[in-house]
Amino acid sequence: MEATTSLLDAAAVGDLVMLDPLSEEALLRTLQERFSREEIYTYIGEVVISVNPYKPLPIYTPEKVEEYHNCNFFAVKPHIYAIADDAYCSLRDRDRDQCILITGESGAGKTEASKLVMSYVAAVSSKGEEVDKVKEQLLQSNPVLEAFGNAKTIRNDNSSRFGKYMDVEFDFKGDPLGGVITNCQCCPLPSPPRWSQPPLSCSYTHPPFPPQTLTDLLEKSRIVRHVKGERNFHIFYQLLAGGSAQLLQKLKLRPDCSYYGYLNREKSVLPGMDDAANFRAMQDAMAIIGFTPTEVTALLEVTAVVLKLGNVELSSCFQASGMEASSITEPRELQEISQLIGLDPSTLEQALCSRTVKVRDESVLTALSVSQGYYGRDALAKNIYSRLFDWLVNRINTSIKVKPGKQRKVMGVLDIYGFEIFQDNGFEQFIINYCNEKLQQIFILMTLKEEQEEYVREGIKWTPVEFFDNSIICDLIENSKVGILAMLDEECLRPGTVNEDTFITKLNQIFASHKRYESKETLNAKHVTDISLPLRCFRIHHYAGKVTYNVTGFIEKNNDLLFRDLSQAMWAARHTLLRSLFPEGDPQRPSLKLPPTTGSQFKASVATLMKNLYSKNPNYIRCIKPNDTKTAMLFTPDLVLAQVRYLGLMENVRVRRAGYAFRQLYQPFLKRYKMLSRRTWPHWTGSDREGTEVLLAELKFPSEELAYGHTKIFIRSPRTLFDLEKRRQQRVAELATLIQAMFRGWRCRKQYQLMRKSQILISAWFRGHAQRNRYKQMKRSVLLLQAYARGWKSRRLLRELKVQRRRHLAASTISAYWKGYQTRRTYRRYFRSDARTRLSNFIYRRMVQKYLMGLQKNLPPMAVLDRTWPPAPYKFLSDANQELKGIFYRWKCKKYREQLSPQQRAVLQDKLCASELFKDKKALYAQSLQQPFRGEYLGLTQNRKYQKLQAVAKDKLVMAEAVQKVNRANGKTVPRLLLLTTEHLVLADPKAAQPKMVLSLSDIRGASVSRFSDGLLALHLKETSTAGGKGDLLLVSPHLIELVTRLHQTLMDATAQALPLSIADQYAGLGAWPVGAWPTWAFPEGAWSGRGRDRVCWEGRGGNQVAHWAG
Ligand SMILES: Nc1ncnc2c1ncn2[C@@H]1O[C@H](COP(=O)(O)OP(=O)(O)OP(=O)(O)O)[C@@H](O)[C@H]1O
Ligand SMILES: [Mg+2]
Repeated sequence: MEATTSLLDAAAVGDLVMLDPLSEEALLRTLQERFSREEIYTYIGEVVISVNPYKPLPIYTPEKVEEYHNCNFFAVKPHIYAIADDAYCSLRDRDRDQCILITGESGAGKTEASKLVMSYVAAVSSKGEEVDKVKEQLLQSNPVLEAFGNAKTIRNDNSSRFGKYMDVEFDFKGDPLGGVITNCQCCPLPSPPRWSQPPLSCSYTHPPFPPQTLTDLLEKSRIVRHVKGERNFHIFYQLLAGGSAQLLQKLKLRPDCSYYGYLNREKSVLPGMDDAANFRAMQDAMAIIGFTPTEVTALLEVTAVVLKLGNVELSSCFQASGMEASSITEPRELQEISQLIGLDPSTLEQALCSRTVKVRDESVLTALSVSQGYYGRDALAKNIYSRLFDWLVNRINTSIKVKPGKQRKVMGVLDIYGFEIFQDNGFEQFIINYCNEKLQQIFILMTLKEEQEEYVREGIKWTPVEFFDNSIICDLIENSKVGILAMLDEECLRPGTVNEDTFITKLNQIFASHKRYESKETLNAKHVTDISLPLRCFRIHHYAGKVTYNVTGFIEKNNDLLFRDLSQAMWAARHTLLRSLFPEGDPQRPSLKLPPTTGSQFKASVATLMKNLYSKNPNYIRCIKPNDTKTAMLFTPDLVLAQVRYLGLMENVRVRRAGYAFRQLYQPFLKRYKMLSRRTWPHWTGSDREGTEVLLAELKFPSEELAYGHTKIFIRSPRTLFDLEKRRQQRVAELATLIQAMFRGWRCRKQYQLMRKSQILISAWFRGHAQRNRYKQMKRSVLLLQAYARGWKSRRLLRELKVQRRRHLAASTISAYWKGYQTRRTYRRYFRSDARTRLSNFIYRRMVQKYLMGLQKNLPPMAVLDRTWPPAPYKFLSDANQELKGIFYRWKCKKYREQLSPQQRAVLQDKLCASELFKDKKALYAQSLQQPFRGEYLGLTQNRKYQKLQAVAKDKLVMAEAVQKVNRANGKTVPRLLLLTTEHLVLADPKAAQPKMVLSLSDIRGASVSRFSDGLLALHLKETSTAGGKGDLLLVSPHLIELVTRLHQTLMDATAQALPLSIADQYAGLGAWPVGAWPTWAFPEGAWSGRGRDRVCWEGRGGNQVAHWAG
């Protein structure tokens, strides 16, 4: 409320739009009145006018920051924090990049204003370790840049001698991420113009930094020269005053300003400025930004080199040719510089006192005169310093730059040195004023011209407001064909004699009739006798006033050349930082290209800066300097009036009063405010304009406050907009509350449902569990009860049954006794004679009956081999028992035989036959019991080799096996295959499978075997047979029992006669045995091994020969 009254206070309105009457005097009076009340800020709409109080005011406290944070711009007293807050909120909430343009004269308070803006943004943005570090780095860049880029001038003790444009980058939450400082340089500029014909002086080089840096905005000339009452850049004084003795010794400096030529050899202590403290602050700031100690040392070393260069004195001498030359007067300074930068002093001396000129591919070393030598020395000092400054800016940027890839919003703060009008204005003032002229153009374009044009475009009823358009002045300077800068470039590049006189003559010719250009020779300078306009000068009617420029030095400064020998010498230095500043000094990279001039670089940089500023939403702070003497709270109306005029504040107020404070396209406007009407919220189906009309009609704003353009809505006063914004904020808060409530409700419902579901589940499980337990308990109890009841019932029943049984038994006993008694009484008469016999028969029968019944129950198992039988219980039954045992055994065998198959029966018959033949007669029989009689052991049918043998045994094969035939001559055995068929016995050679001997079964007279377990068989053949003539056949068979059994059966089948078989220890045979008589068996038990090499030996002679096995 207090602020609103302040804005409307008739004597000192806070917003000049409400000025009444609208006149220059009233405006000036208001500013003065407010200034006297220490209200240094005043609005024109959203433009802030700041009048420098030259004294600290208590209006920048944290409480003030809090007061202006998220404030309503017009609801609080005018303040720079209000515009900073407005820009910051607009950037954060509306996603619009912002730029804050701070303009005003030198000393009007621009730098202070930019610092206030930065510190405000830092204070209101959120806190956090990372964010605080970024903020601190951004804020601490100021002391470093001010030390190297600011100097005391007559107008300002801390005048910025460079233009600074800083982009502070924020994330979507409005937290600073980092920034980019531009030494008023912006984006890359178009490639530099090329020289069609390189001039002789191509032994010059130009700064290596690409022209995107507006290095020329650093006032380099101040390094080597400054007027009395001013100072060089602060850093030199700070270094000498604040550097420790050790540091100064290392840098080979003396702590005495009056020793140094570039400091005008005078002591310079500024009241209120503590250079030593500032030096320490700067060092701290560097550490915070992230400079390493090595970098700081290197930076100070190069600074010291610049300072010491000013003390390099030259004196003239003459060469043998009589030409003037220069030499170093006092080599000590040069040697110290050389030591600092790591360079041979003679190289540096040669570079300072001579230069190499290239004439038709030949390099000639020419000596420099003393003045040329000083020129070279100063150019070197200026170049080193300005390049060092650029390096410094780049180094700070490296620390504060934002990592790529992050989405960011930008707030640019432009603090460029202000408009300057001196007694003697040179090239620097021309450049500076041109830049300010461009900034004024932006202001005019965006606030005055553009605005008025927009009203016409949008079809809003509008009465044009007259204002001064400075494009004519901008064009005079920057026109690419006939602008002053173009003319200067042309002169610099033109071959032939070039000097400032030819340049001014050219200007006078071209701009003879230009309204804003004056010189002694132009037509519009009718006052030829005007002493304020000397001969080598021209005057421009700037928007801020007339400025007379002296063209002396224009050509040299525009060229800004440095002897190549000097840059080569710098490159040859071992000092890494210094060397890196002069990359063009590398002899491997000679460049004949002449880079653009200072003027054209500057023009291009300004153009890029303008483009950058146009792309952002501008916020203006117009700084006004109230007096020329830096006196606190002194208001000089004339001085302020001049600034009010050239800043175009009156026009600004007029346009503002007549125009509309706010405009926006219908679509974004409706989108932003549609929640204020039930008809447009949440969806509006009609056109955006209709929606806007419906919305605003419902809000009932006065009709003069609104105007509907073709594409935009216009709102006249900011108050209406703020009202709208306030309602929106309220509504957004309501909606947010609603959404929150809905969301919370939904979340609670969800949670409740979930809990309920869980609760039901848990209780179901619990109930189930409890019921199950109860049921189990009940079941257990019921079972127990049941058991007790049943037990009780059963016991009762049992008792009853027992009683019944006892009764029954008693009754039975009684009736038995009674019946016995009756029977005995009845039969007593009949039984008396044969009672004994009858009784004994009866008892025998009962005993036999019981025995047979017992046998029936205890019959032995049916296994044939099981011959067990229960014993007879009574002796008189033993015979019958034996008989029954035999009957039962035979019956068991019969049953066994009945279930045998014919094959099994045949096998058993074979085995039976074998047992009849050999049982208890030959020891081998016991072994043969386990072996089944297979008959066929040769596999005649499978083996093709035995096909012939099959043919021989045409009749049915009975047995086939491999045997050993004992040779009758020597007793040795030979292997043979034996085939027994139904009619023949065949012996065959196993190798050839050819029959060797075929015997008819009828030729077999008998057979002999030993009692032992050998396989020797002697077949006695009939003497009438063919083979029989040779004697008996002696064979050794591995299946002797089977062979003899089968032979016996076959003979029985064929001849119905049994085989005469002799089983004895002695053998007597017939045949052609070795010596007449027959051998006798004499085999001890087990002598025959059965192996192939067994043979039969005979011992003894004549009729008493004994055969035995030899292994
Ligand atoms: N808001 C303020 N409160 C108190 N003193 C101020 C304020 N603004 C500026 N000053 C004083 O004015 C002096 C000059 O201000 P500043 O350096 O900001 O001017 P400038 O416009 O940047 O000048 P230049 O163009 O030369 O750099 C400051 O050193 C300070 O003493
Ligand atoms: Mg400044």
